[in-house]
Amino acid sequence: MAEKILIFDTTLRDGEQVPGASLTRVEKLEIARQLEKMNVDIIEAGFPASSPGDLESVREIAMLVKKPIIAGLCRAVKKDIDACAEAFKKAKKTRIHTFIGTSPQHVKFITRTTNEEVLRRAIEAVKYSRTFCEDVEFSAMDATRTGFDYLCKIVEETIKAGARTINIPDSVGYTTPEEYGNMIKKIMNTVPNINKAIIAVHCHNDLGMATANSLAAVLNGARQVECTINGLGERAGNASLEEVVMAINTRKDIYKVETGIKTDEIYKVSKMVTRLTGIPVQPNKAIVGANAFAHASGIHQDAILKNETTFGIMTPKSIGIPGHELVLTSRSGRHALQHRLEYLDIIIKEENLAEVYAKFLTIADKKKEVFDEDLLTMMQADGKKGTDIYILNYLFVASGTTMIPTATVEVKKGDSVIRQSAFGDGPVDATFKAISQITKQTVILLDYQIKSITKGEAAQGEVTVRVKKGNTEVNGRGVSTDVIEASAKAYLDALSKLERAKKVNIKK
Ligand code: KIV
Ligand code: ZN
Repeated sequence: MAEKILIFDTTLRDGEQVPGASLTRVEKLEIARQLEKMNVDIIEAGFPASSPGDLESVREIAMLVKKPIIAGLCRAVKKDIDACAEAFKKAKKTRIHTFIGTSPQHVKFITRTTNEEVLRRAIEAVKYSRTFCEDVEFSAMDATRTGFDYLCKIVEETIKAGARTINIPDSVGYTTPEEYGNMIKKIMNTVPNINKAIIAVHCHNDLGMATANSLAAVLNGARQVECTINGLGERAGNASLEEVVMAINTRKDIYKVETGIKTDEIYKVSKMVTRLTGIPVQPNKAIVGANAFAHASGIHQDAILKNETTFGIMTPKSIGIPGHELVLTSRSGRHALQHRLEYLDIIIKEENLAEVYAKFLTIADKKKEVFDEDLLTMMQADGKKGTDIYILNYLFVASGTTMIPTATVEVKKGDSVIRQSAFGDGPVDATFKAISQITKQTVILLDYQIKSITKGEAAQGEVTVRVKKGNTEVNGRGVSTDVIEASAKAYLDALSKLERAKKVNIKK
């Protein structure tokens, strides 16, 4: 059986150090639970001495998240270790992670002391941590800029003091895969008691090599990788969990190790972290970026439809995405168009395909990307493109701090006019509920956005909604100086599109 690489997730500690990414206690717990579901081995939940809030959050996670080991970070300082021990008092599976800078830059400018004193503090911190916890990790911060002999001495002595995991961090993202791999191998061959500890790596991405450096370390004996979801972390971030794990999975032939990660949970965690931190993922980010499984060129789309291994080295399903996305543009071919129409339940007879494709190209030439609703409008049977099926006749909304929000809505459809009232969590919710009762359409509201499109007091508000019914997703748009009216119009616009879609979805 392949050897196991322990995945140590530090999204809640190093990741949370990103400016603007700070998370509430509830949000941290939500992420920790999802990381547990994904089967990470160790969660670094925070830095208990940094604030009472962080201490509480680490305590809460350690009490409620039972499967992984919960780690807390501490400087090699008694009061930090005490704070961590306090957070872990009633918890069972915990790790104290203590660190001190060992490079000349850190010894001279941060600790302002000597190498001998840093070594003494490191040993003392590990010994003191061990009085509270069996599982102690020591990090020689800025190890990649530390003199090799001195680093080996610290590693040997902290293992003697009781550390079970020794981290060799590339704290400033300075090393390269070849250099780092050799360094790990040399440590393994030089430190006499190294077999008593697991070597961990913690790489920052300042030169864009954090993942490559971590993997080079794995090839040379490291057995714990510290990483974050979406690569969040100080400055340019840390090695990204999804990249490290999927590289190990996809290139088993090279790495010959395995992780315990349930990879089909990766996308969900990535989305959750984006939503809760508000830090977006760049579209071309490996594994979890919006374009990671999107194919735009006609040649690629055609190939993927024939066999997904042609331009796919891992399946979208393996990370929890339902399928490859074919972005329809003027470069797309007939095969891709036909495939998307079939997904929308529109079956085109072979003899009609050329005509439909010509129509599609006319639209695609005018737009950067052709969306489902464009296709649905294009395929509209009666030819009255864009005609709203549902028209808002009347809207009355009552809401306030002491009443249940209520909406009365009247909608015209053809010759009939229907009026309905409903309660809701808020005025928009009440309006949408009344509309759903009128139209008898049950849809999933995927997105709701509101923005001002003109300036001044009588500014027009634009609401866009995205709704889903079965396989069909459409956008709706509404504009008004009254945002509730704009919301009602947007919702009716989306439902009109769905209604039109129903008319063209005739399977033959
Ligand atoms: O980058 C680093 O060295 C760290 C340590 C505290 C492990 O985050
Ligand atoms: Zn770090």
